[in-house]
Amino acid sequence: MPAFTEKELARIRADFPVLARTVRDGRPLVYLDSGATAQKPWCVLEAEQEYYSTRNAAVHRGAHQLAEEATEAFEAARATVARFIGARPDEVVFTKNGTEAINLVAYAMSNAGAPGAIDGADPEVAARLQLGPGNEIVVTEMEHHANLVPWQELARRTGATLRWIGVTDDGYLEDPATVVGERTKVLAFTQVSNVLGTLNDLAPLVAAARAVGALTLVDACQSVPHLPVDVQALGVDFLAFTGHKVLGPSGIGVLWGRPELLAAMPPFITGGSMIELVHMDRSTYAPPPQRFEAGVPMAAQAVGLATAVEYLTETGMDRVHQHDTELTAYCLEQLAERPWVRVLGPTDPARRVGAVAFTVEGIHPHDVGQVLDDRGIAVRTGHHCAWPLHRRLGVPASTRASFSVYTTRGDIDAFIEALDTVPGVFGLSA
Ligand code: ALA
Repeated sequence: MPAFTEKELARIRADFPVLARTVRDGRPLVYLDSGATAQKPWCVLEAEQEYYSTRNAAVHRGAHQLAEEATEAFEAARATVARFIGARPDEVVFTKNGTEAINLVAYAMSNAGAPGAIDGADPEVAARLQLGPGNEIVVTEMEHHANLVPWQELARRTGATLRWIGVTDDGYLEDPATVVGERTKVLAFTQVSNVLGTLNDLAPLVAAARAVGALTLVDACQSVPHLPVDVQALGVDFLAFTGHKVLGPSGIGVLWGRPELLAAMPPFITGGSMIELVHMDRSTYAPPPQRFEAGVPMAAQAVGLATAVEYLTETGMDRVHQHDTELTAYCLEQLAERPWVRVLGPTDPARRVGAVAFTVEGIHPHDVGQVLDDRGIAVRTGHHCAWPLHRRLGVPASTRASFSVYTTRGDIDAFIEALDTVPGVFGLSA
């Protein structure tokens, strides 16, 4: 049985207004770029509008009714988002996006050793956050730049060494045990590669880190939109994702952290709202999550994100995952019949999520993307913010089709039909 009947899928698609538009001289939009950003259902658009038109006020400030209602809406959104990932509300920090969530942790770690970083922090927990020369930060070769560059910076600031777990030719991670060791203080990895679609087995990564007392951070930007994610089951210490890929608004992301770690972490951005006491020469800070939410927060976006995850919950994350696997399998099957296409990453659809990136022999990915776009097919081309991974695979760039809950087999048929014209356009035979 497919995850969704045709009727159910048609109903889902009707929830996303942008899918009804045409592009490039009246062609139906075939949106296969949900890995970059997902489209938004009516309920998310309406939730934001309803917030602005009935309850807009600065959250956690003001003694008036609107401020109270705005604060309630913001905190209720936090509780909903926390429930979606199996967390408690006070373990969820709202950030600008997934990138900021990861930077928050890396920055806090570079400051954790500074004198008086956090008064009263448990010294044993604080010591886990501190690193310096002789320590190692471990990432993987399949990271998005957002889960690589902040760690490069942390290494530079602290004198620690950056190491990485390699990627095999078929798009899996190499054995973490060969890289993670006594010197490792933090291991950061993606759950799903935004290029290869590889769904990493997190258990060996978490086990390797735990064996040496290292912290773990998982980039869940490409997993949370597609499959059920429970922070307790994953066993990691931090998890980051962004709202706009989960059918939510842009301008909001999430950092989940173990409460004892968040409690020992110094702030990232400082200013209003994140303080406890302020004197002219020093300040003390509020407990998490407020400590990490300086300034007037993005309340409408939080409300929109909560509505988006409720939409996904009602749709059923197991079915969302199954639907994605069906689309991935179909897309891989179609591409496998075309010997002039090289698919990057695993060939087993059960080991992939959300995206299929590929190259076409003799044709630059940007040119492939342009021919597809001329026919109304939206894909992403380039290195997808994963330059070292492309280098590892020996390609300068790739073309990527990525899916969401509203994607259909018909979208993939349209994409394949357009792809078949590509070699001819460039005078090559298919
Ligand atoms: N991180 C997004 C992508 O993979 C933008 O396309």
